[in-house]
Amino acid sequence: MTTGIRPKPLIGLLYGSESPVIIDAAGALVESLDVIPERLFYDLGPEHAPRFHRVDGALRELQRYAAGRHTSGHGTALSLPSERPLDEALLDVVDDLAETIGFAWYSEHLTSFVTLRGAAPAAESGFGVPVRYDEDVLTMLAAKVERVQERLGMRLLLENPAVVTLGSDYREPEFLNELARRSGCGVLLDLHNLYANERNSHVDCDDYLHLLDLGNVVEVHIAGGTELFGVSTDSHATPPRVRELAADYLPTMPSLSSVIVEFHESCVDRIGVPSIVAELERMHEIVDGVPTAAAA
Ligand SMILES: [Fe+2]
Repeated sequence: MTTGIRPKPLIGLLYGSESPVIIDAAGALVESLDVIPERLFYDLGPEHAPRFHRVDGALRELQRYAAGRHTSGHGTALSLPSERPLDEALLDVVDDLAETIGFAWYSEHLTSFVTLRGAAPAAESGFGVPVRYDEDVLTMLAAKVERVQERLGMRLLLENPAVVTLGSDYREPEFLNELARRSGCGVLLDLHNLYANERNSHVDCDDYLHLLDLGNVVEVHIAGGTELFGVSTDSHATPPRVRELAADYLPTMPSLSSVIVEFHESCVDRIGVPSIVAELERMHEIVDGVPTAAAA
């Protein structure tokens, strides 16, 4: 029998080079860190030996701030929806970091990333390309998800992208539902990416969230964006619509474990540290209003 009571989701930050300043200001408001592993190593490319160079200084600083906090991994480099085979050497590096830092789960993007190699080490994944939601991609992706979960020994979450794929057989929430059913993966729901798609195309956030199986949502990203060439993009200071979606839907997600305030490092001056702290407080207020196991 279900009691309708769940553990309280943790509130946190996407960890980046500006995060120490935010954490110093926010203190205990930051309970969880979503860590981008690609910021902790350089991938010099398969033609180099050794191929990977770990940035130990960045790792040590992260470990200081992660002490006593929940951590999860949030990667881009595996580029799972790409047709290319899974990069097992890269997966080994991710596994090593996951164990060193103590990730509770790992997330990737439902976007095919173009990796730029050559002039600079391939530490950044480059440009995200929309994925076609059809049976072939579903079959290929489900197999890769299962392999990643087996190698890392933890659940993988897939994040909804801030791009709309046209001409697909599945609508995105239905694709995510089916991928979760076949592979056991969860969903990282980025409410700003969803909002950007509502601004830029025919997507309606409420329709989307009614179609998506919210029982699969383990992590939520709260973010903002900027207008670029008349298009809303993902780069980060939260608009009111995203806050409304958070207030309406976070309490309805039975498996939600972490709510991450996401912002691009280059936007911290523009957003301001007090605004980021206020966003963390707002998210605490939302989840504090939900019945929890502790309250019971
Ligand atoms: Fe996100």
